[in-house]
Amino acid sequence: MFDELTAPSEDALLALIGLHRDDPRNTKIDLGVGMYRDDNGQTAIMQAVKEAEKRIWDTQKSKAYIGPEGDPAFLDLLAKEVLGADWNQTSVIGLQTPGGSGALRLAAELLAYQGPRTVWIGTPTWPNHNGIFSAAGLTVRTHPYFDATTQSIRVEEMLSALSGASSGDVVLLHASCHNPTGAALALEDWNAIAKVMAGRGLIPLLDSAYQGFGRGIYEDRMGLHILLKACPEALIAVSCSKSFGLYRERTGAIYASSNSGNVLPKVRGALASLARVNYSMPPAHGAEIVRTILADGDLRASWYAELETMRLRIVEIRQALAGALSQQVPTMAAIASQEGMFSLLPLAGDTVMSIRHRHAIYMPESGRINIAGLRLDQVGRLASVLVPHLH
Ligand code: LMR
Repeated sequence: MFDELTAPSEDALLALIGLHRDDPRNTKIDLGVGMYRDDNGQTAIMQAVKEAEKRIWDTQKSKAYIGPEGDPAFLDLLAKEVLGADWNQTSVIGLQTPGGSGALRLAAELLAYQGPRTVWIGTPTWPNHNGIFSAAGLTVRTHPYFDATTQSIRVEEMLSALSGASSGDVVLLHASCHNPTGAALALEDWNAIAKVMAGRGLIPLLDSAYQGFGRGIYEDRMGLHILLKACPEALIAVSCSKSFGLYRERTGAIYASSNSGNVLPKVRGALASLARVNYSMPPAHGAEIVRTILADGDLRASWYAELETMRLRIVEIRQALAGALSQQVPTMAAIASQEGMFSLLPLAGDTVMSIRHRHAIYMPESGRINIAGLRLDQVGRLASVLVPHLH
């Protein structure tokens, strides 16, 4: 049986971790997988996380099972950050999941649960969206989202594609810090999308993986609020990987909102049984860390301040890179106004590969760069390598 297996190709994005690690050149720059790095190039553990871990070590008495739904206190506290003022226990339920990917997979399985269903994703999007939704049995359709050459969002084309979607179709939207483009929808765009979606009976699936990295923790949930208010039912997949720096702890949640609250226990039951047959129960440690931080005023303040420092470092690097590139390639000024970790450069795959080989600068073949992987002192070199290819 093993002999006949057709091995799938390795995930191209995750493969960059090993390729960069094994490159001996000391001038190498890692702009690959979306992990925050500080000025020293480190993905450090946040101070509030370290402190929460100490407290958990001191006080935790048991490793007993907690069940497929996870920890209700974690879910309540996280919902207040992600959903903010709109959080209303009678209109939202949540389940703890293994990271944001686990949340997306559970959402997709719920959506595919009672028969064929279509999910719309923008082009480009995070490559694993297509993988997760297809693997769960959803039909994936695409709408235009971004033009890398002009660095602009294709809102009109997106709206027109969604106007042709059928009632009950799902639309995947990035709550903030669009991956891979960093291009943020304006509030009037969110309103226009919400209008079309509510009018056609489309269901939003919001992917919230970078809250706090864009304009700020409150600002980064404004689009999501517009959708939740306009659409009677929605799903929200949350990742704590970036906002709490908990990557390998696999910490996340899936929330379902409905304006008819009495259907929600059924949704919770369906999600719990899907979790049970997938991975049984979510890992606990990361969620305990998040709960400990969010339940304590001082720890929450420390987490928030550190997240804000990280956000501002990204803004600073964005401005420096946009300044260095736009003198010769004016469209690249857009990098300064984009948000979160990523921007998408209009580079062909073979150009990306030649930049990797000649200059030890690592990015996926799509031309996506992780701005947070860059140090200020590397901006000049990166710009001089990129400029000849951006014309
Ligand atoms: C990324 O896009 O780089 C991150 O979300 C990591 C991943 O799992 O792809």
